[in-house]
Amino acid sequence: MIPTHMQLDTLWDKGIRRDIARILFTRTQIHERTIELGQQLTQDYANSNLLVVGILNGSFPFIADLVRTMNMPLDIDFMAVSSYGERTKSSGVVRTLKDLNQSIAHRDVLLVEDIVDTGLTVNYLLENLHTRKPNSIKVCTLLDKREARLVPLQADYVGFSCPNEFVVGYGLDYRGFYRNLPFVGVLKPEIYQTQA
Ligand code: PRP
Repeated sequence: MIPTHMQLDTLWDKGIRRDIARILFTRTQIHERTIELGQQLTQDYANSNLLVVGILNGSFPFIADLVRTMNMPLDIDFMAVSSYGERTKSSGVVRTLKDLNQSIAHRDVLLVEDIVDTGLTVNYLLENLHTRKPNSIKVCTLLDKREARLVPLQADYVGFSCPNEFVVGYGLDYRGFYRNLPFVGVLKPEIYQTQA
């Protein structure tokens, strides 16, 4: 028999969910908020030539769920970027690991992120992509951690405001793990303190 979501969540309790101190946004809350965002985006981008751009790796569950709530024709592409290691993160220097497969000239572009934290990644992406002469670029992020901002960046569409804590799940990782959790939660400090 195929387990229900509730039964699956019980299985999580016995697995890697033990590393989570508390859940911030449940599967249902994310689902419902994503539908609201999708409806807003469908309205705002009616009759536009929209390209939705997911920023890998973290955005993969969110973009997959979000575009399926958007009742309109759209195209999807991905970029992968990485900061030059911890020490230079605050410099805002970002390396492009995978660029877009197409031109964005005269397109309406929607960047989709799992989280805007310091804002440095999105800031770099906006500067880079603006040089390619799109019609417009906006940012949609599931989580907005405003307290952590190092640059004055405001996302156009926000799923949830996020407290300044170490969050994982639904695309967000710690050392590559926890991205597959169906919710967003706070990682227990002992996990990253003992492994630092
Ligand atoms: C995360 C996240 C954003 C960025 C946000 O990506 O997906 O892209 O950090 O942080 P910022 O606002 O401080 O720049 P990360 O570099 O961890 O890579 P990942 O998406 O592969 O997890």
